[in-house]
Amino acid sequence: MGSTLSTVHSCMFENCPNETVQQFAGHVDFDPAMNGLPAVGDVNIAYSVHPWARGQGVATVAVGLICDFISRQRIGTRAIARIEAENFASTRVVERNGFQLLGQFQSIDDQHDDGSPVVYATYSKEIKVG
Ligand SMILES: CC(C)(COP(=O)(O)OP(=O)(O)OC[C@H]1O[C@@H](n2cnc3c(N)ncnc32)[C@H](O)[C@@H]1OP(=O)(O)O)[C@@H](O)C(=O)NCCC(=O)NCCS
Repeated sequence: MGSTLSTVHSCMFENCPNETVQQFAGHVDFDPAMNGLPAVGDVNIAYSVHPWARGQGVATVAVGLICDFISRQRIGTRAIARIEAENFASTRVVERNGFQLLGQFQSIDDQHDDGSPVVYATYSKEIKVG
């Protein structure tokens, strides 16, 4: 990986209901240098949609677009999404994008308030280099 890929890249997406109104709807990130990724070539993705924009397919589309970007820019060979067990909406987002469950893994960075490590359901999707 080149050093230019060692930072978290972000983009914001907006809905544009008409030419005069634009509202921030959420963000999607990718990070090929995150600590604890399972394998070389893995790229972590993370996303969040503002409450007003949820339930309209925004995250599903955003995750598809970021996977395409990772492919076209040759950033990595596998997308990784780490999701807490009770986050059903996020789980559906990756399932709809063809991710498969890799396993349950303890985070090396993230902790609950009681100090115990967060355990993430970790999903992956092979990325064809574009
Ligand atoms: C998770 C999140 C990104 C989903 O964004 P979204 O744009 O609403 O998702 P979509 O509209 O693309 O919906 C994806 C699926 O989630 C389902 N879903 C949406 N909200 C849901 C909810 N509250 N409970 C259960 N399922 C839900 C949708 O029905 C859809 O599933 P379907 O294909 O079976 O119908 C959004 O809820 C969010 O930002 N949550 C807080 C931050 C977060 O959890 N980020 C992900 C961390 S891993």
